[in-house]
Amino acid sequence: MLGDFMYSNPTRIHFGKNALASLKDELSKYGKNILLTYGGGSIKKSGLYDEIVAILKDCGKNIIELPGVMANPTIEKLYEGAKLAKENHVDLILAVGGGSVCDYSKAVSVSAYCEEDAWDKYFLRMEEPTCKIIPVGCVLTMVGTGSEMNGGSVITNHEQKLKIGHIFGDNVFPKFSILNPEYTFTVPQYQMVAGFFDIMCHILEQYLSGEDDNTSDYISEGLMKSLVHSSRIAVKNPRDYEARSNIMWTATWALNTLIGKAKSQDWMVHMIGQAVGAYTNATHGMTLSAVSLAYYRTIMNAGLKKFARFAVNVWGINPEGKTDLQLADEGLKAFESWMREIGVVMSLKELGVTEDMYEGIAKATFILNGGYKKLTHDEVIDILKRSM
Ligand code: NZQ
Ligand code: ZN
Repeated sequence: MLGDFMYSNPTRIHFGKNALASLKDELSKYGKNILLTYGGGSIKKSGLYDEIVAILKDCGKNIIELPGVMANPTIEKLYEGAKLAKENHVDLILAVGGGSVCDYSKAVSVSAYCEEDAWDKYFLRMEEPTCKIIPVGCVLTMVGTGSEMNGGSVITNHEQKLKIGHIFGDNVFPKFSILNPEYTFTVPQYQMVAGFFDIMCHILEQYLSGEDDNTSDYISEGLMKSLVHSSRIAVKNPRDYEARSNIMWTATWALNTLIGKAKSQDWMVHMIGQAVGAYTNATHGMTLSAVSLAYYRTIMNAGLKKFARFAVNVWGINPEGKTDLQLADEGLKAFESWMREIGVVMSLKELGVTEDMYEGIAKATFILNGGYKKLTHDEVIDILKRSM
């Protein structure tokens, strides 16, 4: 490994069928006022809302409800939550939902006492919080983002047509996260497979970079193999606990900072995907699946050795008598056939992208260094065209 790093992760994870039993203990560490954030109603349908409210009442907490956190949370919703949290002197934000609710709660936690405009400070200027931060706890119901054990928070500004993620530090990570794979059984198939692809993409964004022999890459290969194996089972039987629990844990490790340690990283699929999201409000994982293959075909020659290794170590391609180019090509074909098998979106057209959006999406794409090849504006346009 060539890079230096610091590793620590402050989030306590409670995992398994009885994980919610730990909530009481966690709640005892915080004051009375709990901001309960959740989405559009799935937790009411599943009965989880009632269970959590009963625990909160049992602990003598004062519940302030903040429902309606939408997929791809917006700045308007952020301002609403920040105001509510401050007015009610909130001691803990309890996020019950998927990545959107969890990301949103982190954004509220750093915005409630922020004296400046939160969007400008955190998402445009990428500054760190200097105000009081409200602690966040999470009960996860949808798997994919890794938000349950990281400092990421992605917010959308529809007016400016920007979707931007800020990776906050340890002080913003959830203090605890409750992960019961059974909660994910009710996630609709489309969302479920979008989450599977999001996990794969998080791993690839960290794996497909660098030339050094790096422990993180071996961990990534193991995570990808587990994901491919379990995703094939879960698409046929979404209630398979073994598969869903493996996927839930893989998602957490895919983006809790461990596998990015000592590595350069390439987040261009996410950068393009987020720009697509700003224009279409499409499901996050599907914005990634739609552009991935065109992106990887664009950078493959610059990172041929790693793409060949991906083919052999993740997809089990027999390397005998083959050049790196042949292997890399076969690896991407195997990857594509897995994508088709689990049923992710393969084209931007399906997400509502039209030709007149190319220029805007390319402009809204932050071009990063760190991958095998730095894209130009024209290459982003070309990737969009080839993803239609
Ligand atoms: O709102 P409800 O009714 O709860 O429905 C949600 C929502 O419509 C539904 N859902 C969640 N759990 C369910 C369920 N439906 C039935 N049963 C359940 N158990 O699923 C829909 C999508 O939920 P959402 O939270 O939006 O999905 P996801 O977890 O994929 O989160 C996406 C957001 O996370 C950001 C994305 O950009 C996007 O805004 N990301 C956050 C990252 C991070 N923190 O590090 C990294 C990622 O790359 C990603 O960018
Ligand atoms: Zn993602």
